[in-house]
Amino acid sequence: MTDLSQNQKTSTESRGQWSSNIGFVLAAAGSAIGLGNLWRFPYLAEQYGGAAFVFIYLIALLLIGYPIMLGELAIGRAAQLNAIGSYRKLGGKNWSLVGVMGIVAGFLILSFYSVIGGWVIYYIFEYLRGLISDIVQSNLGGISQDTKNHFVSFTSDTWQPILWHFIFMFLSVCIVLKGVSAGIEKYSKIMMPCLFILLIIILIRSVTLPNATAGIIYYLKPDFSKITGEAMIAAVGQVFFSLSLGMGCMITYGSYLSKKENLQTNALIIPSLDTLAAFLAGFAIIPAVFAFNPNATTIGQGPGLMFITLPKVFQQMPFGNFFGLLFFILVFFAAVTSSISLLEVIGSYFIDQFHWKRSKAMLIMASLIFLLGIPCSLSFGPMQNAKLFGKTFFDCLADLSSNIMLPLGGLLMCFFIRHIWKIENAEKEISSEGQYPFKLLPLFKIMIYVISPICVVAVFLYANTGLFGDILALLGFIE
Ligand code: TRP
Repeated sequence: MTDLSQNQKTSTESRGQWSSNIGFVLAAAGSAIGLGNLWRFPYLAEQYGGAAFVFIYLIALLLIGYPIMLGELAIGRAAQLNAIGSYRKLGGKNWSLVGVMGIVAGFLILSFYSVIGGWVIYYIFEYLRGLISDIVQSNLGGISQDTKNHFVSFTSDTWQPILWHFIFMFLSVCIVLKGVSAGIEKYSKIMMPCLFILLIIILIRSVTLPNATAGIIYYLKPDFSKITGEAMIAAVGQVFFSLSLGMGCMITYGSYLSKKENLQTNALIIPSLDTLAAFLAGFAIIPAVFAFNPNATTIGQGPGLMFITLPKVFQQMPFGNFFGLLFFILVFFAAVTSSISLLEVIGSYFIDQFHWKRSKAMLIMASLIFLLGIPCSLSFGPMQNAKLFGKTFFDCLADLSSNIMLPLGGLLMCFFIRHIWKIENAEKEISSEGQYPFKLLPLFKIMIYVISPICVVAVFLYANTGLFGDILALLGFIE
C-alpha cells in the first residue's frame, strides 16, 4: 500500500486509485490477457511456422509493445485523467480527438467482445450440465455429438446469444461498479492467478495425452520458411490487440497509478505476462488437437478453434466434460478482465469530465454497448446476409476498430510524444522525476520516433489493402 499525500488523496478519491502495485500489474495483465491470447495467438503460431512465429512476435513485442505500453502508461500517470482528458491536458484541445477515437474504439470493441464473452458463458453452462449428467450416468447434457452443428445452431439463434451477451455485460458492469480498487483490482487479483493455474492444469493434461508429441514438435520446431511479410504484419497486429494498446486503455490504467511506482518495470512485466499466457495457451491447445488427429495439417482457425475443434477434443478425452468446463472458465476469466478494462476506459471519461457518478456512467455506457452488441450477435443468424462493404456487422466493427482505429491511435501517440508532449516530459514521468533513472532513453527514442511508427504504418496499410482498393476503385483510379 502506498501512502498518498493529502493533496493527491482528495483529487483521486472520486476517481479511484490502485491500492498496490501488484494489484495494478494484475489488472493491466488482466486487460491484456484475453481472447486475443487464447484463440488468436495459438492459431497464428500454428499458421506461421510455430516457434518461428513466437520468435518474430517477441521481436515485435520488444520493438513496439514495450515502448508504446510505456508511453501510454506515462501519459496517463502524468495527466491523472482518462484517455480524452489526458491528451487534452498535455496537448491541448485538438489532441483530445485522439482520446475520443480511443473511446469510440473501446465502445466498438466491447460490443463484439461481449457477444463472444456471452458464448463462453453459454459453453460453461453446457459443460456444467454435461458434468452433472455424467454424474447421474446419463448422456443427455453437455456439448452434443457434432460440435460444429451445435455451435452453428446456437450462434445463429436469435435470442439465446443475446441473452448470454446480456449476462456477460451484466457481470462486467457489476465488477466495474465497485470501483477501481474494490472492483477491478480485487477481481483481477483473484481471477488472474486462477487463470494461470487453470492454464497449467489444461496444459499438463494436453501434453500428456497419447500422440501429443507430434503437436509439441509442431509447435516448438521453428519453420522459418513460413515467415513472410504477412506473418510479420500479423505479429505486429497481434502485439497491438493483445496488449490492449492504441485506444487509451493503458493511459486510463496508468492514471490510477501512484507516482512512486516504477513505470519501467511495470511496462516490462505486463507484456511478459501477456506473452507467457499466449505461449502457454498454444502449448495447451496445439498438442491436444494433434493428439486426437495425428494427421492434422491445420487445427482450424478463429472461433472455430475454440468453440468447435476444442470441444471435439474434450469429447474424446477421459473426463472431457471436466476439462472442458475448466477451459471455458479460464477463457471467461480472461475475457471478463479484458472487458472491464474496456468499460473502465469509456466510463472514466464521463466520471472525470462530467462528474457523473460511477454508477450512472457505467450503467448508461454498458446499456448502450449492449444495444450495439445486438446487431453483432444477429450477424451470425438473422442478419447474416446484411452486408456492409461485403462484411457482416460483426466483422465491420471488428475490422474498423482493430485494423484502423488501434494502429492509428498508436501512431498518433508516438507523434504526440515526439512533437507535442516532448520527450523531456516523458522522461521525467517515466523516471518518476529522476527517482528511477531511465537508462534506456536513447533506445526508447529510436523506437518512438522511428521504428514503432514505421511498423504501425506497415500494419495499417497492409491490414487495409482491401479497403484502400475499394476506395480507389470507387474514385475510379483502379478497375
Ligand atoms: N487485449 C485483450 C485481448 O487480448 C483485448 C482488449 C482489452 C483490448 N482491452 C483492449 C484490445 C484495448 C485493444 C485495446 O483479448
